[in-house]
Amino acid sequence: MDTAMPREIIDRMRTGRRMPAQFGSATLLLAQDRETEEVVGLAHAIPPVQWLMEAGLGLPLCLMLARALVELEAVSVAGSARGQGLGHQLVDALVRAYTCQGYQAVLGGIHTHKPHLKPYYEADGFHVLDPGAPLDLQLPIGRLRYPAEPSMRHLVRPLAGHVSYRHGVVTGLLAGR
Ligand SMILES: CC(C)(COP(=O)(O)OP(=O)(O)OC[C@H]1O[C@@H](n2cnc3c(N)ncnc32)[C@H](O)[C@@H]1OP(=O)(O)O)[C@@H](O)C(=O)NCCC(=O)NCCS
Repeated sequence: MDTAMPREIIDRMRTGRRMPAQFGSATLLLAQDRETEEVVGLAHAIPPVQWLMEAGLGLPLCLMLARALVELEAVSVAGSARGQGLGHQLVDALVRAYTCQGYQAVLGGIHTHKPHLKPYYEADGFHVLDPGAPLDLQLPIGRLRYPAEPSMRHLVRPLAGHVSYRHGVVTGLLAGR
């Protein structure tokens, strides 16, 4: 597994599994080696509840968004299992699971010091923003800005037909809800 996986992410993965149901669903996928049964891959996604609450939205809107937006927190494949498509399979499985649950967009973030991840996520259907560029969400009440550190790039992939992304803005979220 990726020994460099930050403690913060591991802690959030634990918190995610204890998240109250009204805040949407967190998912942790594990891939095991058939022979050794060792865990060789993981992918974790969780609605961005902390950011939504800190953004000062009212609770009803936060709860609605926690069932519309989900964030990729971690994707990691052990060195011995890399390059066989496992990383893409894990991300695809998360995307399918959240699409089936009616989620409208997947968000994520990558570090600029890993430039190979841009084409990697683009191949998975994500838009990859410029380093430090914020992501704006057009909501029925107005725009909500998700800022980014200069060392990070936002990722976004619409999941619903009425949601789209263009020039830093996601439109169509919560339409009809
Ligand atoms: C990124 C990661 C999950 C990919 O897992 P994987 O199972 O090897 O990925 P896949 O086999 O599905 O896809 C391999 C693709 O990734 C590219 N890739 C992965 N790591 C790369 C690297 N360090 N440098 C260049 N390309 C890389 C390969 O070129 C290949 O491209 P292709 O699909 O065009 O052939 C894995 O390398 C990893 O765990 N990295 C450390 C943690 C990390 O950076 N996670 C992502 C951020 S959350």
